[in-house]
Amino acid sequence: VELEALNTLHVPARARFFVEVHSADELVRSLDWAAAEDHEVLILGGGSNLVFAGDFTGLVVCLAIRGRRWEHIEDHRATLVLGAGENWHEAVLYAARAGYRGIENLALIPGTAGAAPVQNIGAYGVELCDCLESVTALDRKTGELVPLNNAECRFAYRDSLFKQTPGRYVITEIRLGLSRSQPLVLGYRDLQDYLGDTPESALDPVHVAEAVMAIRRRKLPDPDIIPNAGSFFKNPVVDGAIFESLRERHPDIVGYPQEQGVKLAAAWLIDQSGWKGFRNARVGVHNRQALVLINHSGGTGADILELAETIRRSVAERFGVTLEMEPGIVGDSGRGNP
Ligand code: EPU
Repeated sequence: VELEALNTLHVPARARFFVEVHSADELVRSLDWAAAEDHEVLILGGGSNLVFAGDFTGLVVCLAIRGRRWEHIEDHRATLVLGAGENWHEAVLYAARAGYRGIENLALIPGTAGAAPVQNIGAYGVELCDCLESVTALDRKTGELVPLNNAECRFAYRDSLFKQTPGRYVITEIRLGLSRSQPLVLGYRDLQDYLGDTPESALDPVHVAEAVMAIRRRKLPDPDIIPNAGSFFKNPVVDGAIFESLRERHPDIVGYPQEQGVKLAAAWLIDQSGWKGFRNARVGVHNRQALVLINHSGGTGADILELAETIRRSVAERFGVTLEMEPGIVGDSGRGNP
């Protein structure tokens, strides 16, 4: 099966075996088959956070478990339950239109609901872990479907249990705790600039989702038109002392204080290293957001990874900071992603 249309970088790759599963039962049966035949397994959601370095010789399981329902509706709070294969952005709009707050800042993030906890998606001041109550996951070690609560998911910035234990869990369903009355999160600079002086009392979650969509469309390329995998590197967190010495040499450096250390804007480091808008015949760096690598025309996973490595080296030489890739690498030289 060709995987080019199933990854948002649209790099060519083939899977030896492929199945689309619509229920936890079908998932279990597919995994049992792969185990009996001794095939590696790759779980695929929207394909927006991985790079195919080559073909995948095992079984690709495309998670298409659908379903959206409300649970425990009481006063102003409710739990939104999403099947892992639900489209994330559609779920955001669905919740916002129902008047529920909590995920509107995460509008337009590509991918599926089941993939959202894996990298703890985050944008415009909100992270999924702020509202995720629990997930249901298949534990491949025991073969059981288990509930995992927020603490058990071990969330951190772009990180979770599911990244820390690759291959162990397959998320089948997620539960989000939303509310009609909690404050909107409007502090992120871009949002403030966009919303201007509009008071919070005049805004609802649909307004915020629409603002986020407009901001993202201005800066981030639509993967359906310009193939990409979102931010290609994580924002690196460095020691406070290292930040101060960097700031002495680079007074404009962008950093956000964290509990431990300072989070640097990787986009700024890449931009300052001269890569923004760079392109060769096949791949390049987006001209409005330096953190996004683009497959311009016929690029392969190897082309993307080579460019990423060149950028990493260049940033390390200039700033002494090592960038860590965000998407998983799959196939050939890569490991299977969770
Ligand atoms: N900047 C530059 N050059 C650029 C782009 C940005 O110097 O080309 C500077 C900006 O001036 C700004 C800073 O870098 O001060 C941060 O930029 P931005 O607000 O665009 O956010 P980011 O840190 O680059 C992160 C997430 C995005 C998310 C935005 C908004 C990561 C790795 N990325 O990007 O997430 O949408 O914040 O919250 O944390 C993704 O994960 O795929 C993704 C798009």
